[in-house]
Amino acid sequence: MSPQSNGLNLIYRPRRLRRTAALRRMVQETQLTVNDLIYPMFVTEGENQKVEVASMPGCYRFSLDLLLQEIAEVYALGINAIALFPVIPESKKDETGSESYNPEGLVQRTVAAIEQQTPDITVITDVALDPFTSHGHDGLLDEDGYVMNDETVEVLAKMSVSQAQAGADMVAPSDMMDGRIGAIREALDAAGFTHVGILAYSAKYASAYYGPFRDALDSAPKSGDKKTYQMDPANSIEAVKEVELDVDEGADIVMVKPALPYLDIIAKVREATDVPVAAYNVSGEYAMIKAAGQNGWIDEKKVILETLLSIKRAGADLILTYFAKEVALMLK
Ligand code: PBG
Repeated sequence: MSPQSNGLNLIYRPRRLRRTAALRRMVQETQLTVNDLIYPMFVTEGENQKVEVASMPGCYRFSLDLLLQEIAEVYALGINAIALFPVIPESKKDETGSESYNPEGLVQRTVAAIEQQTPDITVITDVALDPFTSHGHDGLLDEDGYVMNDETVEVLAKMSVSQAQAGADMVAPSDMMDGRIGAIREALDAAGFTHVGILAYSAKYASAYYGPFRDALDSAPKSGDKKTYQMDPANSIEAVKEVELDVDEGADIVMVKPALPYLDIIAKVREATDVPVAAYNVSGEYAMIKAAGQNGWIDEKKVILETLLSIKRAGADLILTYFAKEVALMLK
């Protein structure tokens, strides 16, 4: 390189460290690796089913047989963990979500089959009632349609134990009831599952970004919204309080959800706690990038990598993302 003419007399020139690819690699502060990724997957009843979710191109509802094939494939790509979500037929839903703790239920059968086939992958099960209730809320309703807290927590504890019995490595309460982490920890321990971890959806916001996920599961609430239990998007101090409560009650990992509109919350939570922090790059975030990519409006692959890197840079140690498989392939 030819020496630059001395126009400005600068001592510090930040561009020096950006001049070559090797220099840039040397001073890179954040790296995205396949170890950071948790892959959310949808399981449905039946056989030989692989049905794409219309609002989530590239994401499928798999029947158990095909899900097992997919899991073998993603584990071989280096993905360490999946987060499992069931599509429950309307005929099995009721007011109290009793199918959620059926030992022969879809989640329980699926977890057992995964443990049999790919025992080393970490299976994380969702603990919330919305896929199982006829009204689509995450808990039991009183006569005014208000989600009752303590009654719901009792069912969540039962559901967690049943998932642990099936072989779940971690349970992930995504319901936002008060006190559920402590109750679940106690129930798991009492049933002999002291080794089963809890990934707490600690700061989960009442977000419009969950729309495509509710399409995937047919789980949208039939009436009202989730604002009496999920957090107000306007609040950030409260997120730290929620995290502190969950850690005190026994959460092994805490989570912020959604991710991209809440990078400030991820950063704040990372500062405030000493347990690993996860972030959920949710369905609406996924759908926006896919839609723009399909239209040729953005370079999809680059936007995916930049987005996930930004979530890590904000402070997330782990990212739940529907891009996990694609990214694992890109990073190979
Ligand atoms: C339900 C649950 C939701 C998601 C994960 N678990 C939706 C909701 O709270 O209504 C959303 C995930 C996504 O949008 O990707 N407890």
